[in-house]
Amino acid sequence: TINQRVDSVMRLMTLDEKIGQLNQYSGRETTGPVTQSTSITDAIKQGRVGSMLNVQTVKNVRPLQELAMQSRLKIPLLFGMDVIHGYKTIFPEPLAESASWDMSIIRQSAHIAAVEASAAGLNWTFAPMVDIARDPRWGRIMEGAGEDTYLGSQIARARVLGFQGDKLGGADALMACAKHFAAYGAVSSGRDYNDVEMSEHQLWETYLPPFKAAIDAGVATFMSSFNTLNGVPTAASNYLQRDILKGKWNYSGFVVSDWGSIDQMVKWGYVADKKQGALKAIISGCDMDMMSNAYIDNLKQLVAEKQVNIKIIDDAVKRILYKKFELGLFDDPYRFCNEERQEKALNDPAHKEAALHTAERSIVLLKNQQGLLPLQKHGQNIALIGPLVKSKRDLQGNWIGAAEFGRVVSMYEGLTQKLGNDVHFTYAAGTTIKGADTAGIGEAVAVASKADIVIMALGEAGDMSGESKSRADIGLPGRQMELFNAVKATGKPVVVVLMAGRPLIFNEIADKADAILYAWFLGDEGGPAIANVLTGDYNPSGKLPVTFPRSMGQIPLTYNGYKTGHPYVATSNNYQTGYMDVPNTPRYAFGYGLSYTDFKYSDLKLDQPIMTKNGAINASFTLTNTGKYAGEEVVQLYINDPFASIVQPMKKLKGFQKIALKSGESKTITFKIDNDMLSFYNQQLQWASEPGSFKLMIGSGSDDIRLQSDFKLQ
Ligand code: IFM
Repeated sequence: TINQRVDSVMRLMTLDEKIGQLNQYSGRETTGPVTQSTSITDAIKQGRVGSMLNVQTVKNVRPLQELAMQSRLKIPLLFGMDVIHGYKTIFPEPLAESASWDMSIIRQSAHIAAVEASAAGLNWTFAPMVDIARDPRWGRIMEGAGEDTYLGSQIARARVLGFQGDKLGGADALMACAKHFAAYGAVSSGRDYNDVEMSEHQLWETYLPPFKAAIDAGVATFMSSFNTLNGVPTAASNYLQRDILKGKWNYSGFVVSDWGSIDQMVKWGYVADKKQGALKAIISGCDMDMMSNAYIDNLKQLVAEKQVNIKIIDDAVKRILYKKFELGLFDDPYRFCNEERQEKALNDPAHKEAALHTAERSIVLLKNQQGLLPLQKHGQNIALIGPLVKSKRDLQGNWIGAAEFGRVVSMYEGLTQKLGNDVHFTYAAGTTIKGADTAGIGEAVAVASKADIVIMALGEAGDMSGESKSRADIGLPGRQMELFNAVKATGKPVVVVLMAGRPLIFNEIADKADAILYAWFLGDEGGPAIANVLTGDYNPSGKLPVTFPRSMGQIPLTYNGYKTGHPYVATSNNYQTGYMDVPNTPRYAFGYGLSYTDFKYSDLKLDQPIMTKNGAINASFTLTNTGKYAGEEVVQLYINDPFASIVQPMKKLKGFQKIALKSGESKTITFKIDNDMLSFYNQQLQWASEPGSFKLMIGSGSDDIRLQSDFKLQ
């Protein structure tokens, strides 16, 4: 068994070699602030390194693995990297892809990323990020699945299975890493690396379930986070790592710290020096030290001083060796180092096609006045205006692996390649993305004035979201609003394609544009995907995985806020929970997204009105495509518990299905409701349901409930 093989290696290891396994260094590329001074070559040969990050391609990985084979025990290295939304072929950013609500394409894009990265020498990705994020100021919102725990848990599962396959050990798979444990998405003020102060209840109810879902899907590793949780840096959190993860959840994989975060405990003022940081981290369950040099420099002495029991070190080493065996590295350390395979995997045309398919499904149609879209494909003059029309690099967004900008098809190229023979296109950038530059606005207006229709591409630059990219103002940067208003004033119909890594606030555009597509950062195939959606060759089906606020002051705003004793009344300002200056409602709600066709929801039936704790209710209804186009609808199930021993959110997403229907077609859709869907963490932090009445709501968005019914739990 693997355990026996691990033990047989352990018996041969010196303490130095054990500590070496817990040490991770970065190659030349850096994804953190510390510079590396150690000679990596010597350290690997001496068995003082267990894993490398940021070394990629067979050409670079193989020589380091060869060095490991020169070490006394020849223990192979793990090679990790942030393969977040594709490796060579760049897919939509995770938040964008989450807007598809399509678990099969999400799994597939992770699988393709793994096929490419594992062919390029890697065996570990630091993904998926499963942090629930409810604050669009936080730049890393782009890297997750949005605000909702249920949706986030489904997506966590799909991504883990995509990266790893059903069982770890496939040659075309990577170890996944559920990060950042925990609650990193809740950093105060949306400022990256900040503290998190959170109730136990909120932690368990909202932030932990996607991590548990990742474990249930078999995730090989965890990464702790850069934040403190209630005053404790998470790499030193006994509660998170020992009590919950390795205790209650009985997790057998290993935990890596985030970059330099053991060292950062000194800056937090949590420990006096790095040695104490190493002590706190190892004792509280952090198995591998990423780029702090804390373990390699201090653990031996801490063991000699009897501050750290060797059993703790042994446990961490065993967890890491186990994964190396599972990956097959002891049998063949060069398993992921085949140049021919790499060449083939990185140039597979099927990957490009899958990226297009995913990008189309990630786009959300926010507005379509008078059916302006889809565009007519013939005989029009179309003006393409905006700083993102011709951009390539921006479409890839952040965390872009081994991306090549040359592979990106811009929106300009996508549209002109598709329609160039039938449509006359003109172009003006108008302004830059971030700059104060307005000189081009006059030309843009002149170009717009001569067109039948204007398509604008506006938004953020690709590097304005991601790690350390928090923004206090999430409006359109630079002078883009001026550009929009000037173009709109021509009176021409204006379609706005918005690109960003986060929800932006763009009220004027929302009010005045004739049609709006939210195109996030869609990756290499963004241009063709936008063209296919604009022309109706793909009927948009995306739904927002996160609330779009109308005002910065509403943040954080979610669809599932708690009830209050002074419920919101839109028409009154007195003694109700609200603002004097803006409504409580979002600009666009969680789950919202339009289609070119219409869907009718009818005939909701429950197979029984009363459910027992061991039983289930089936709720069925008819979905009909009543419009002219074939399309897909994400039908959403929400549940409200009107009376409970702890105050409940107004509604919670508890199910969804993505249904494809031809024009005129109907289908019966069934949701099964069971006791788990009615349960919550009560005051004793037990996951339990309480008998009584419930309301189920089925709709096309969290603010667009079409059918509802009460039922009882006995
Ligand atoms: O995986 C990342 C993490 O999300 C942020 N800090 C650096 C790590 C490795 O690149």
